[in-house]
Amino acid sequence: MKYLVTGATGQLGYDIVRELERRGLTYIAPTREDMPLEDDKRIEAYLTTVAPDVVIHCAAYTAVDKAEDEADIAWRINAEATAVIARVCRRIGAVLVYISTDYVFPGDGEEFYGVNAPKGPKNVYGATKLAGEIAVHSSLERYFIVRISWVFGTNGNNFIKTMLRLAEKNEQVKVVADQIGSPTYTADAAPRIIDLASTDYYGTYHLTNEETCSWAELAMEVFRLSKLPTLVVPISTAEYPTRAKRPLNSRMDKKNLMSAGISSMPAWQDALRRYLIALEARQNQEPDSAGA
Ligand SMILES: NC(=O)c1ccc[n+]([C@@H]2O[C@H](COP(=O)([O-])OP(=O)(O)OC[C@H]3O[C@@H](n4cnc5c(N)ncnc54)[C@H](OP(=O)(O)O)[C@@H]3O)[C@@H](O)[C@H]2O)c1
Repeated sequence: MKYLVTGATGQLGYDIVRELERRGLTYIAPTREDMPLEDDKRIEAYLTTVAPDVVIHCAAYTAVDKAEDEADIAWRINAEATAVIARVCRRIGAVLVYISTDYVFPGDGEEFYGVNAPKGPKNVYGATKLAGEIAVHSSLERYFIVRISWVFGTNGNNFIKTMLRLAEKNEQVKVVADQIGSPTYTADAAPRIIDLASTDYYGTYHLTNEETCSWAELAMEVFRLSKLPTLVVPISTAEYPTRAKRPLNSRMDKKNLMSAGISSMPAWQDALRRYLIALEARQNQEPDSAGA
């Protein structure tokens, strides 16, 4: 069994590769230079030559605000390149795992979104990721769409690293308290994504750590666990205008993941505690590179 992982220099792809390595599985992880997602021919040639059994497609245009101004690039990377990957997977008989997002949903109300709940992205990024999902399920039968949310890993940038950086120079930070969701620790998600990919329970899944919170609650827990005195001032989304609109409700129902035999992830508070330890260990190992 040969795996191909895109986006291994990002948060999730990095931990997927580490987990494949840990299990002694065969994989290849093309960089942007090896398989640029702007280039259909290069995608096609690379995938055809490698001929993987499973493609775990983590690479994406993930700059949510910038996507509002670079919609053409976001569509190219998230929708069109995914469509090319899906078509090649069909031709070579590979299973495709496409990583998607809570931002495909409109985020109204307070209910947990089921995997088939009506979509309605609020921003360009969400719309392009939804188009990627549609390309995957309209091309393939052997696919997994795995929606994750509020991602944090030791590799790359995320909200928690931003909070730690802000705490260095600020006594208090204002953080949005009316967007509710569940954080996803990549080290918890990666083994489950690989487990799921080895089943034949094809379809769409939600995968996050257990329990919900607001960004403000997440920031408070970061500072509490890090023993930082920084105060979190909860504010509303309306008080913190961003280029891209964000859904207020990112609660996602994970029932069908359990039905596929995949264990639930630990609560986000537990994940955060382990993450901060892992981050510190990594920073001590590579003082120049892990503080991104
Ligand atoms: N971050 C979140 O909060 C979040 C939430 C929900 C869903 N997701 C989804 O989860 C997946 C993983 O996200 P992440 O946070 O791990 O991503 P990330 O850290 O932003 O990494 C993105 C990866 O995609 C690669 N990439 C971007 N443009 C490319 C291009 N044109 N050609 C080839 N490679 C390209 C990047 O390569 P370089 O290093 O060369 O730039 C990097 O490896 C994505 O599908 C994302 O949409 C993320």
